[in-house]
Amino acid sequence: MTSTAMAQGAEGRKAQPDHLGHVIFITAAAAMGGFLFGYDSSVINGAVEGIRGKYGIGSAALAQVIAIALIGCAIGAATAGRLADRIGRIRVMQISATLFTLSAVGSALPFALWDLALWRVLGGIAIGMASVIGPAYIAEVSPPAYRGRLGSFQQAAIVVGIAISQLVNWGILNLADGDQRGKLMGIEAWQLMLGVMVVPAVLYGLLSFVIPESPRFLISVGRVEKAKSVLADVEGKGIDLDARVAEIEDAMRSEHKSTFKDLIGGKAGLLPIVWIGIGLSVFQQLVGINVAFYYSATLWQSVGIDPSDSFLYSFTTSIINIVGTVIAMIFVDRIGRKPLAIVGSAGMAVSLALEAWAFSSQAADGSLPTAQGTVALIAAHAFVLFFALSWGVVVWVFLGEMFPNRIRAAALGVAASAQWIANWAITASFPSLSEWNLSGTYIIYTVFAVLSIPFVLKYVKETKGKALEEMG
Ligand code: GLC
Repeated sequence: MTSTAMAQGAEGRKAQPDHLGHVIFITAAAAMGGFLFGYDSSVINGAVEGIRGKYGIGSAALAQVIAIALIGCAIGAATAGRLADRIGRIRVMQISATLFTLSAVGSALPFALWDLALWRVLGGIAIGMASVIGPAYIAEVSPPAYRGRLGSFQQAAIVVGIAISQLVNWGILNLADGDQRGKLMGIEAWQLMLGVMVVPAVLYGLLSFVIPESPRFLISVGRVEKAKSVLADVEGKGIDLDARVAEIEDAMRSEHKSTFKDLIGGKAGLLPIVWIGIGLSVFQQLVGINVAFYYSATLWQSVGIDPSDSFLYSFTTSIINIVGTVIAMIFVDRIGRKPLAIVGSAGMAVSLALEAWAFSSQAADGSLPTAQGTVALIAAHAFVLFFALSWGVVVWVFLGEMFPNRIRAAALGVAASAQWIANWAITASFPSLSEWNLSGTYIIYTVFAVLSIPFVLKYVKETKGKALEEMG
């Protein structure tokens, strides 16, 4: 990097409040993909009984139909990065929005169970793409001083998406008199739940037409003038645009379109930085966060909560998830990503250990003594709070910004697909693990939370406030 470029990199770190409103709008529009990610991955929970009833299938088959979408997510995540390098970030958002829309309509009106599964896989591909393109695009359009906070919009949108899908499902269920197969507007309640997603999906598609292409992509395809006008827009007119472009070009000099081959190197097969990205992704899932979301009803029942109040408790979890995310948004650029991750890991480890302790006195019918029940309930919520204020936000921010420009798209794709596979492994194994021993299951998650601490301390580098061009 040249010295002017360096100086300009430092310049880019300064606040440009006159443009911040616009940058926030662009970020929020891109984060609609995150909203759909959260909405789509959790909407299915409210519809499972309807699907089970309609097709007369058992829990095992149903779990497969649900889990199969996660495989689509892994495929979408693996392809989005390279596609984004070829056709641009905005086009990938448009493809993702189209797939979301088709999947919403298709899975609301399936003519057979396999057809439903197919539409869910398609929706999964859309989620996987959104999970990669959101953080990458946001990191590329954000001024460095705000990049962590703007990057955390993605996770904020995910958690709001989870909460809204629960609310919408609850509203629809009430209109259908509590019966997932009750008819509304000629179709069954569970179908409507899946179909409603058309609204945010179309909105995402429309918004993608009004936000600019990423300056880094524009420069990579030689559209320098356009890149300058976007940079002026997002980083402020005061910056030296020629120096800024030179800085980005410098960083890209040795660069070509990233492919999986570029990730290979060193003794361990992949570049160390790629392994670190995969490690962050996988630890985020191995602490069992999605068990707390996908299987919350099991917990509520064991602490004696009436199934009809289940919604209220799951919704409370979602609100805590949102509160934790807001806390992380405030601190991610102030105290940095690493301290947040470590505080979160420690808090999660203690909460998970308390859950393991509480469930060690579970009776044969699954219930817990009152004292242990209270501890389990508090610990479960503390766990979600600690996750949300740390790994929930931090991992998506890290993945968007930690890789050098040269390999960002492909590396992010690999790390995100590893995350979807880990998500699938945890959610698919939970039913059998919990039958074996619920307390033991929580001990496993506790061990992963503990191990994540030395992992972060030893391998992860702080990225707070650095220009993307300085990563590597
Ligand atoms: C993160 C995880 C996702 C999880 C969500 C919960 O986005 O990647 O798997 O569902 O947090 O808030």
